[in-house]
Amino acid sequence: MKTIFSGIQPSGTLTLGNYLGALVQFTELQNEHDCYFCIVDEHAITVPQGRLQLREQIRSLAALYLASGIDPKKATLFIQSEVPAHTQMGWMLQSISYVGELERMTQYKDKSEGKEGVSSALLTYPALMASDILLYNTDIVPVGEDQTQHMELTRNLAQRFNNRFNDILTVPEISIPKVGARIMSLQNPEKKMSKSDSNTKGFVSLLDEPKRIEKKIKSAVTDSEGIVKFDKESKPGISNLLTIMASCTGRSITELEEAFEGEGYGVFKQAVADAVIEKLAPIQEKYADLINSEELDAILDHGAEKASMTANKTLAKAKKAMGLGRKRK
Ligand code: TYM
Repeated sequence: MKTIFSGIQPSGTLTLGNYLGALVQFTELQNEHDCYFCIVDEHAITVPQGRLQLREQIRSLAALYLASGIDPKKATLFIQSEVPAHTQMGWMLQSISYVGELERMTQYKDKSEGKEGVSSALLTYPALMASDILLYNTDIVPVGEDQTQHMELTRNLAQRFNNRFNDILTVPEISIPKVGARIMSLQNPEKKMSKSDSNTKGFVSLLDEPKRIEKKIKSAVTDSEGIVKFDKESKPGISNLLTIMASCTGRSITELEEAFEGEGYGVFKQAVADAVIEKLAPIQEKYADLINSEELDAILDHGAEKASMTANKTLAKAKKAMGLGRKRK
């Protein structure tokens, strides 16, 4: 049995990209491993958030984790800011992070480019992410492809800490799904689908109504060739839709190419929309039951308690290794 950790930011309603890139893996892994899944609200505040909206999004994300199939009997679900060890360890890891390596992160470059008043937390974000992971002696981190660079840095920080102080941190591996690791925007298939996209037509939210999903997929940007074929370079839009349909149905891309041979994009897009709607319907139904329930609070309370126990043990070891505080018997 391995230890698994992953997190999602409550920075908007989850998209199909988050679901196919991350959540699907989570629900499979929880059956065989010791899993921790986190609502990383402290990461979300690295860019400005409205107070009430953030509160709502935190709760909504917790409900979506459960509605997507995370079982609290199998996995620990918790909110990052309810386990103070994360920011404590985050600070310690910042002290061994170099400004140069943080500045090289593409997520930092993308989110800060052309902006004024960029928060320093946006730069030091990867040290907090490393702390999330390393506090749980994590073996595997299931994420989408966009987190590869952050994961490399996490591994470097763990190794650096172990070499410099004491060999106490587990160096984690990344796990990326074979299909669905990078779902692209429906409006610009050269860009990843993102919950913070200002163009809402670019993403399908897990809570979009069926009609809306259909509309968004039907207006997805494609090409004018009229052939349903996977070719990321010259047909990024169609390739993205094929990936989405393959991930939602469990059918292979080749099988789908054959099934839609000779069909126009209209028929294909309708089939993709139907597959997505069918996949999301049970999630939306469960979400509605959970969002205002007391059960949700009980799960999060229990999750924070359990996560704290593990995290505090690693934190104590790391503090001792660095020489922080007083020596205690
Ligand atoms: P976040 O909140 O942006 O995304 C959550 C998860 O969804 C994946 N993802 C995608 N997968 C496929 N296609 C897409 N278009 C797509 N968009 C997002 C992400 O790769 C991620 O797995 N830094 C992280 C949050 C984090 C974290 C952690 C993750 C904080 N601490 C510790 C793992 C472990 C982030 O911003 O994810």
